[in-house]
Amino acid sequence: MAEALRVGIAGLGTVGASVARLLATKASELTRQCGRDLVVTAVSARSRGRDRGVDLSGAQWFDDPVEMAKSAPIDVFVGLIGGDEGPARAGVKAALEASRHVVTANKALLAKHGVSLAEVAEKRGVLLNYEAAVAGGIPVIKTMREALAGNSVTRVFGILNGTCNYILTRMEAEGLSFDACLKDAQRLGYAEADPTFDIEGHDTAHKLSILSSLAFGHRIAADDIYLEGISNITQADIRAAGELGYRIKLLGVAQRTDSGVEQRVHPTMVPTASVIAQVHGVTNAVAIETDILGELLLSGPGAGGNATASAVIGDIADIAKSRPGFQHGPVFGRPAKELAPYKKALMRAHAGGYFIRFTVHDRIGVFAAIAKRMADNEISLESIVQHAGGTADATQKTVILVTHETTEAAVRKAVDGVTKDGHLVDKPQVIRIERAG
Ligand code: HSE
Repeated sequence: MAEALRVGIAGLGTVGASVARLLATKASELTRQCGRDLVVTAVSARSRGRDRGVDLSGAQWFDDPVEMAKSAPIDVFVGLIGGDEGPARAGVKAALEASRHVVTANKALLAKHGVSLAEVAEKRGVLLNYEAAVAGGIPVIKTMREALAGNSVTRVFGILNGTCNYILTRMEAEGLSFDACLKDAQRLGYAEADPTFDIEGHDTAHKLSILSSLAFGHRIAADDIYLEGISNITQADIRAAGELGYRIKLLGVAQRTDSGVEQRVHPTMVPTASVIAQVHGVTNAVAIETDILGELLLSGPGAGGNATASAVIGDIADIAKSRPGFQHGPVFGRPAKELAPYKKALMRAHAGGYFIRFTVHDRIGVFAAIAKRMADNEISLESIVQHAGGTADATQKTVILVTHETTEAAVRKAVDGVTKDGHLVDKPQVIRIERAG
């Protein structure tokens, strides 16, 4: 049998501890599959004493992950420390520079420094695997990097944050408050250390930037993503969406357009009958549309220790099975040096349908004024809904519009116009509708 693959784990939080436990409990299965043992020979974490449910006494302990990356007896550095700078970045960089393979689940790090790290990996001839960084346990990186050769991707979109999907699902199903659902997501280990990363869409944006680069061959542009989170989604929106045949999901969407690539993260109305609308709870889903294949949809567990650890272990096993001269291709599907600059499509040019919810003073002419602003901006309406009641204050009414395809610029102008007309009680709510099969 070949020599054991020596694994060093940096970061023993929810994911790191799951990886260590699974490497121990699945050791004989992994040895059979890889043709060699996978042995944890080094670990580094903040607190040495904590019980993580696995015996790590045989591994060399390092207080400093960079020291571990440089000098531990390891073949693979598994980077599971959070953050896009500090020890997370320094450890991965030092490992690649020391010609060690790297496996990481750190999407923030890849979103910010993925291309430069890929350049180091490719120069040193080592692997940088990051399946766990996007959509937890779903093998979407392998799919895009390896299985779609020759396909031209037109759009990739998905539910990329388990915490947000968990919150939206429970708010809809149980009528619970946003805060109660978020607390449960944190308790269950889905949320990031700072949950604003989840609910304000940053985590989705990091993952989307990686998918967009793989899909369209451009350098990662995580700072150039249109971003809206879910914190202003209310029960009123959820109920209105349901009534009109839609469900609200936080989607990340990257789409090729005539003027460039659109990258956007925002709450989205998807038809209730679509497959992506059936993705509930912490489950993630990624839809990839290509010229050859049509639409491919992958779904599965997107957050939590074991889901993420499953992808990490798959990446480690790939390294165990690889042989010098017979390794997988470049980190982002094409050599890092050949990734093109990101050509951004302007958000104002985005074309699609829109859901608009106005809370208005209940008086003569309001409906007509709203309709006029829409017509003045050449917005065609698919439905208009106003119910008797619906607000706590009898002098107010909720007016809901669903538009046919129009542009972001037209909607913004029309909504600004309605706001200026002085009929609104509070801020209008605008939610984009996404075509989904
Ligand atoms: N906080 C992330 C989520 C974990 O909720 O999806 C996986 O990246």
